[in-house]
Amino acid sequence: MIETERLVLRKLKESDLDYIYAWDSDEEVTRFVTFPVHKSKKDTEKILDFWLSKYKAPDTIRFAIEIKESSEVMGMIDVIGITSEGYPEIGYASAKKYWGKGYMTEACKAMVNHMFEIGYRKILIKAMIENIGSNKVIEKTGFSFIKKEKVYLEKSDKNVTLNVYEINKA
Ligand SMILES: CC(C)(COP(=O)(O)OP(=O)(O)OC[C@H]1O[C@@H](n2cnc3c(N)ncnc32)[C@H](O)[C@@H]1OP(=O)(O)O)[C@@H](O)C(=O)NCCC(=O)NCCS
Repeated sequence: MIETERLVLRKLKESDLDYIYAWDSDEEVTRFVTFPVHKSKKDTEKILDFWLSKYKAPDTIRFAIEIKESSEVMGMIDVIGITSEGYPEIGYASAKKYWGKGYMTEACKAMVNHMFEIGYRKILIKAMIENIGSNKVIEKTGFSFIKKEKVYLEKSDKNVTLNVYEINKA
């Protein structure tokens, strides 16, 4: 568990289903992510079951982001992969009603500190060039832009351009 001024980052629970469905069923939220929008709660149930099963591996890093004041789960932040060089890549998403309040920047900074504390020395993050909000979160967190990368996005059957960033432990 990680605590910030306004947030608690903790493991996902089965009872988070409705919160997760709120953002993963929203086309505006999923527009800039690789996974397709959830068409029903069944889709969310399936992925949540998978995520919960992944906690059996003690090195799984995937947090629900809870707002301290209301105990609502506003979003999720996780390690979406480890590069061949051993660097973790972070991903995140949150429900629209919580956007623009600085929450994801707060969560992302805490996540980066946590990753450095547990021993990683470099962290990567990528965002589609059109994703203004995410690129802002990344820059406000202190990541540096390294390159652009073209990838094929299966869900929309098109190529997209990503900004690739890194942050190194001081
Ligand atoms: C990207 C996302 C996580 C940002 O979360 P957030 O809690 O709103 O982020 P913050 O409030 O910390 O910062 C966002 C900043 O971008 C700005 N912003 C957001 N969307 C914007 C837009 N479309 N145009 C211009 N500015 C925008 C906000 O005003 C804020 O700027 P500020 O710090 O100057 O006020 C959230 O919008 C989201 O979940 N999007 C959908 C999923 C997604 O894109 N995930 C990332 C994949 S790489």
